[in-house]
This record gives sequence, C-alpha cells and structure tokens, in this order.
Amino acid sequence: MSEEKNQQPEAPSDQIRRVFALEFERFSISPNSLKEAENQLKELRELRIKFLGKKSEVASQKKMIGSIDPNSRRDFALLFQNLEKDLAQKIDDKELRLKTFILRARAEHESIDVTIPGRRPRPGHLHPITLMRQRIEDIFVSLGYAVEDDREIETDFYNFDALNIPEGHPARDPQDTFYTTGGFALRSQTSTVQIHAMQRRGAPVRMIAPGRVFRRDTPDPTHNPMFYQVEGLCVDRGVTMAHLKGTLAEFVHRLFGPETKTRFRPSYFPFTEPSAEVDYSCFNCGGTGCRICKWCGWIELGGSGMVHPNVLRAANVDPQEFTGFAFGLGIDRTCARIYELDDIRLLFENDVRFLEQFR
Ligand code: FA5
Repeated sequence: MSEEKNQQPEAPSDQIRRVFALEFERFSISPNSLKEAENQLKELRELRIKFLGKKSEVASQKKMIGSIDPNSRRDFALLFQNLEKDLAQKIDDKELRLKTFILRARAEHESIDVTIPGRRPRPGHLHPITLMRQRIEDIFVSLGYAVEDDREIETDFYNFDALNIPEGHPARDPQDTFYTTGGFALRSQTSTVQIHAMQRRGAPVRMIAPGRVFRRDTPDPTHNPMFYQVEGLCVDRGVTMAHLKGTLAEFVHRLFGPETKTRFRPSYFPFTEPSAEVDYSCFNCGGTGCRICKWCGWIELGGSGMVHPNVLRAANVDPQEFTGFAFGLGIDRTCARIYELDDIRLLFENDVRFLEQFR
C-alpha cells in the first residue's frame, strides 16, 4: 500500500462512525441503580439528537446530495441510509435495555408486600382541655349565654386600661405578660373580651369567652405561662350579686352534680367591685377532705364580681342604667382536678401515652 493512500482523508461517513463508536463506548457499562439507568437514558437521548437529529453531521451530509456526481448519488444515498440505520439500531437496542431495567427497578422499588400485617390507623381525638371547654360551653349555652371567640394579641388599653388598671397600677404586676416587638401584649386574662363584647353588642349582653391567656409565671404543677380561661359576663338592668351567685352555683351543679356547694371569699380585682374568689365543694369527697382537694374540702374555681362602673364606661355602657357581673375560671386547673392530674404541665407536654387516656 502506497504512502499516499495511507494519508487519504477519512471519508465523512467513516469519521461519523468512528466518533459515534467513541461516544457510544460509555453505554457499554451496565447501570447499577435506577438513578444511573435514568441518567444513561437521558444521555442516550442527547446522543441520538447529536448523531441523528436535524442539525447532526449525518443530516448535513445528506443535504449535499445535490452537489454529488449523478452517477454516484445512489451509492452516496445508500451509504448514509445504512449509516443512519446502524446508528439508530445501536441506540434503539440500548434504549430498550435501559427502559426494561428502569421498569424492573421501579417495580421493585414501589412494590408492596401484601403479606406484611396492616398498621391500624390511629384516629385522633379531642384534647382534654378541649373536652373540658366544650363541657363548660354546653352548660352556659343552655343558660342562654353566647360564646365569644376573640383575639389573643391585645393593646394595653384592652388588657389593662379599659379594665380599670391604669399604667403604674400594682395590679399590672401579677399579670405581667409577653409583648410583641411592636408593643402589643399577649392577653393575660380573658377579661379583655368583656370590653370587646360590650363594644360590639352593647348592653344587655350575656356571653362567655373561652381562650388562651399568657403570663410571665414560672411553670410549676399549678402554673403555666400559657393557660386557658373562660370569661363570663352578664350585663343588664338590675343585675345583682345574687344573680352571680345563682349562676355559678347552677354551673357547678351541672358540672359536678347537684350536691356541689359554692363559697364566695372576698377578694380584689380592679375591674369588679365587690370582688370574690369562688370555690366549690370537692366533687370527690363532698367537702370532707381528700387527696384531690388537698384535704381542705374546697377547690378554687376562679375570680368573680360585679363589673366596675369604670369598665362599663370604657365600653360605652351607662353604669346608671346597667349593672353586671363577671367571672373568670381557669380551665386547665379545673381539668386537672377532674382528671386527677398532679401537674397541669402534663396537659401541654403532648405525650401521646398521656393524651390517649382521654379518648
Ligand atoms: C383573673 O384572671 C381574672 N380575670 C378573673 C376574673 C374575671 C375576676 C372576671 C373577676 C371578674 P386570676 O388571676 O385569679 O383572675 O385567674 C383566674 C384563674 O386562672 C385562676 O383561678 C386559675 O385557675 C387560673 N390561673 C391563673 N394563673 C394561672 C397559671 N399561671 N397557670 C394556670 N392557671 C392559672
């Protein structure tokens, strides 16, 4: 073979075959995983476009057929037709193998073992505090009270000023709360709803407002920095302390039984005058003393009193015409007593083993 012949330029079809063979080489390695196979399939699609697409070398060679000597055209066309067929065949074969691999790998990955025993769905249930709240709501609704739902973030006006606790008043201390960076208070008592309800509904009004409140109290078995209260408010013409006592007595009868007694101890709240702490006789021992009432026979229900005229005025209700009573009960502590919990913090730990007992 002469030197000249050796140096003859490589025919375009041979060059395409050679470059294709080099690039196709990497597809000879079988994939080890679904991801690898999916990547290879993607690369294979790119290879097909590169070698057989509209902008491929094969396509541009075919376009040159018009400039070929008419006697050689048939051979030229046949040459590229075969070339195209060979490359497409190789790509098709590999594509089929990859697709089969992917299908099998996916089936294995997603297959369900029908012999594994089923997992019983665990239906949810209400939290003990919600159960308690609903019991309280039911009683007051049946006594003709509306249920108000109100905001937890307040201005100082609603949390303190309108409740007759001006700035600098010592009663702000035990109700110290948390503030947003914008200066809003997380309400420290549901008494805020007294003002909103009177502003919204005017007088007469009869409502309860259950909800979450916040205080800077150190957590212990009877304190949480976040807890639930239910506020009660009844404003009308001629409402007296007797109505307050009768209402709360009826409430504890319905909650704990008709033999339950109430006791009112004089107390102080800036927003009621006179004010009283309310206790009820222990539902467990009937007042003789037991573990639940800490051997004293009585359990504290909450605070109460006759709405202070300043509070009525702050809510645009005329104290000459209307009087009212209000009360605020702690839901968490009542809930803890009823369910004999030693520590109200259990109610917020969200330990499923504890909560499941209230199904
Ligand atoms: C008040 O919050 C008054 N707003 C109640 C009131 C309303 C009086 C209307 C007069 C008229 P007191 O701070 O006592 O009152 O709280 C009421 C109840 O909330 C308590 O009896 C107690 O059950 C509950 N409580 C108070 N602090 C906490 C706390 N840190 N964790 C859990 N419960 C609490």
